[in-house]
Amino acid sequence: MPGSRPCYLKRGRFWFNQAPGDEATMTAPLTTRVLRADAEAIAEVARVLHAGGLVAFPTETVYGLGADAGNGEAVARLYAAKGRPSFNPLIAHVADPSAARKLAEFDAAAERLAAAFWPGPLTLVLPKSAPCPVADLATAGLDSIALRVPTHRVAQDILRSFKGALVAPSANRSGHVSPTTAAHVLADLGGRIDLIIDGGPTQLGIESTIVACLGGAPALLRPGGVPRQAIEHVLQQKLREAPKTGTAGDAPRAPGMLVSHYAPRTPLRLDVRRVEPDEALLAFGPTLAEGAERAAKVLNLSVLSDLGQAAANLFSHLRALDTAGASAIAAMPIPHEGLGEAINDRLRRAAAPR
Ligand code: TXA
Ligand code: MG
Repeated sequence: MPGSRPCYLKRGRFWFNQAPGDEATMTAPLTTRVLRADAEAIAEVARVLHAGGLVAFPTETVYGLGADAGNGEAVARLYAAKGRPSFNPLIAHVADPSAARKLAEFDAAAERLAAAFWPGPLTLVLPKSAPCPVADLATAGLDSIALRVPTHRVAQDILRSFKGALVAPSANRSGHVSPTTAAHVLADLGGRIDLIIDGGPTQLGIESTIVACLGGAPALLRPGGVPRQAIEHVLQQKLREAPKTGTAGDAPRAPGMLVSHYAPRTPLRLDVRRVEPDEALLAFGPTLAEGAERAAKVLNLSVLSDLGQAAANLFSHLRALDTAGASAIAAMPIPHEGLGEAINDRLRRAAAPR
């Protein structure tokens, strides 16, 4: 673990044994504790969060980095720990739909989607209620808010024990690959956050689908754990495409969807049918790309071409291939149906020029 300074809990706030006037900076490394997800750990999570601390925990999609959504200072610390541009708003996680209804206005489409997919890997972007107790910094000053009700038992236990909304972006440094195990979180954020709750590998392995219901037809802002077709089936209508964003000055409708994101350090080559000898192969399906026997390393997302299994393996395989010392990661084509849309979206972003 990184060299740690002692950390005191004082009048509900953390003080990091630092020079006076230095409290707001993130320069002092923390001791990041890792605890197994049992009842004692859950109680400790609630204490740390109420004190303004940062706790990573598993959800059914990826590990999230939680902070008290109503505490602007905690949210500022969270942005600093991730190295995240503060214009990129966060998802508020709540225990159930009735808690969500206190934070936002639900139209008929939002009600249908919440009834069909909550708890689960769907995030709804809705008009913020007035007054909304979530810190303005967490919503980056927008008049909308992203809400999610996770189904993972540990996430549910934490939300119920905390008794409030938690903002929780994926628990990785900004721009890195999302974490699907506690070890991934530790590698990225060790020394920068207070606590990691280890609940084993996440089931889905890819982030939630984000749908905006802001008047007019609902729009797909990010493909994810709930396939587009399932959402369109419930709505009995096609989803609108997300407005294109990511350029300076653009209205931040889905501001996190920067073109380059989810990136390994090694360059990524897509739709590869022939691997070069010094490349690592991210395979899919029973038949490997030509030249696979000479690849630096081969990992298969799903030998049986199962897209659910491929989503669950995506980020951990990218991380593992990133350490192979290869000149590039060569990714075989993935079919675009069902969860394939979200997998291809993440691969495109990981391959985008930085
Ligand atoms: O599966 C998930 O959603 C995970 C787990 C931990 O819950 N969380 C996650 O959060 O992926 P994050 O912060 O990595 O991605 C949230 C996305 C960002 O692209 C952000 O721009 C978008 O949600 N977002 C948040 N609030 C928004 C809003 N009001 N309008 C549009 N997009 C919003
Ligand atoms: Mg993220």
